[in-house]
Amino acid sequence: MSGDEAVSDYDVPDADAMRSLARDVVGPELRAGDLVILTGDLGAGKTTFTQGLGEALGVRGPVASPTFIIARTHPSEVGGPALVHVDAYRLGSLAELDDLDLDAALEDSVTVVEWGEGAAEQLSEDRLHVTIRRRRGGEIDMEAPDAGMRTVALVGHGPRWTGVALAADAEA
Ligand SMILES: Nc1ncnc2c1ncn2[C@@H]1O[C@H](COP(=O)(O)OP(=O)(O)OP(=O)(O)O)[C@@H](O)[C@H]1O
Ligand SMILES: [Mg+2]
Repeated sequence: MSGDEAVSDYDVPDADAMRSLARDVVGPELRAGDLVILTGDLGAGKTTFTQGLGEALGVRGPVASPTFIIARTHPSEVGGPALVHVDAYRLGSLAELDDLDLDAALEDSVTVVEWGEGAAEQLSEDRLHVTIRRRRGGEIDMEAPDAGMRTVALVGHGPRWTGVALAADAEA
């Protein structure tokens, strides 16, 4: 691991805890121009995490899966940066992500890209990676297959995130 990375790992038992992690730990650190990349399987909780970011930023909701559209802009209701919520999963190629002209919005907004690893890196050397994993070992409840523990890793890349403590001690 290169020296500019700081890793924070969290155990996240349910969807409310996922929203709280985003709202209370990550959201307060965000400012205009930031890029957040969310990685995780289908149903991992990427949109749920983004909802918490939206709460922290005070943007107009609801934050939902950007189905049928590639990006949705949520304007601030508190005079802060907008939230640009991008679903890279629905993009066919890197070229399409470029076509969205996200660079224009990057400066004035917090841009959150779901499933963006490998696609969105080129937009900025400064980015926060949020990786969501299902915890293995637990029994799957067939009535609620989405339920259950997740592990979330927060890794900041680039000068923007150097020295930013993402409250890794919050669990202590
Ligand atoms: N620990 C948890 N963290 C987050 N979500 C959880 C958790 N446990 C259960 N859930 C549920 O899992 C689902 C996660 O859905 P969500 O739409 O956030 O996932 P996603 O990663 O955005 O999916 P997609 O790949 O389709 O975009 C929700 O129904 C949520 O309530
Ligand atoms: Mg989603």
